[in-house]
Amino acid sequence: MTHSFDPVAYNRDAWDREVENSNEWTKPVGPEVIARARAGDWSVVLIGYEPVPRDWFPAELAGADVLCLASGGGQQGPVLSAAGAAVTVLDNSPRQLDRDREVAAREGLSIHTVLGDMRDLSAFPDAGFDVVFNPVSNVFSPDLAPVWRESFRVLRPGGILMVGFMNPDVFLFDIPALEEREELIVRHRLPFSSLDLPDAERQSTYGTGPIEYSHSLTSQLGGQLAAGFTLTHFAEAPHHADATAQYMPSYFATRATKP
Ligand SMILES: C[S@@+](CC[C@H](N)C(=O)[O-])C[C@H]1O[C@@H](n2cnc3c(N)ncnc32)[C@H](O)[C@@H]1O
Repeated sequence: MTHSFDPVAYNRDAWDREVENSNEWTKPVGPEVIARARAGDWSVVLIGYEPVPRDWFPAELAGADVLCLASGGGQQGPVLSAAGAAVTVLDNSPRQLDRDREVAAREGLSIHTVLGDMRDLSAFPDAGFDVVFNPVSNVFSPDLAPVWRESFRVLRPGGILMVGFMNPDVFLFDIPALEEREELIVRHRLPFSSLDLPDAERQSTYGTGPIEYSHSLTSQLGGQLAAGFTLTHFAEAPHHADATAQYMPSYFATRATKP
């Protein structure tokens, strides 16, 4: 990779390809999920297949302004919209945003979609949201401090930030051994990025997929605290599609509030 490499531009194309390849996080919810959400029976995921506890959300979701951050794919945004929230989805992939627009058109929902980088929320004014909902996606962002700073800025006082992220320890392991033989062989020093791999090895292990960054717990948890958030809840879950699931939680989730 050259010094002029732009990971956000690369990952935009990569996530558009993931839509073509039917990655599970690009498949929109069906009409039955929306019908249930309209009737008050709804849930969304931040990590893996774990429903977010209902009490992580505001007691009254109807009318709440929710920013689904790096959360395209026609999943959480439409469900929260059908449950009564005023939803904006920001995502770096035009094809992922198409998914949200497809569901909105199919179901008669009003969802505002914005193409952008999760580190730059300048499209939004200060204190315009009650919830920022950010499922596992900061693994694709080169740095996190701007994400926490901007999330803090766009939330109202009392607003809620929910984040799903990778346990960085997952990145210790040799990827082909993990994926092909379910062996956990410690190989990489942390923090790790797939950009650290030689081009040929990255292509053979990640294919045309997005560039990933392990991030430290300091930048995840410490970063939210440094931005001014108060952490209120923490959860963990296995990575259902990964050999690590037998040994460790590979997903973490936090709930934080803006004082
Ligand atoms: C695993 S998917 C998450 C969305 C999915 N609905 C879910 O439930 O997890 C990761 C998303 O992050 C988006 N993304 C990656 N890098 C981004 C960035 N820098 N800014 C905004 N979105 C980004 C991708 O386009 C993709 O839609």
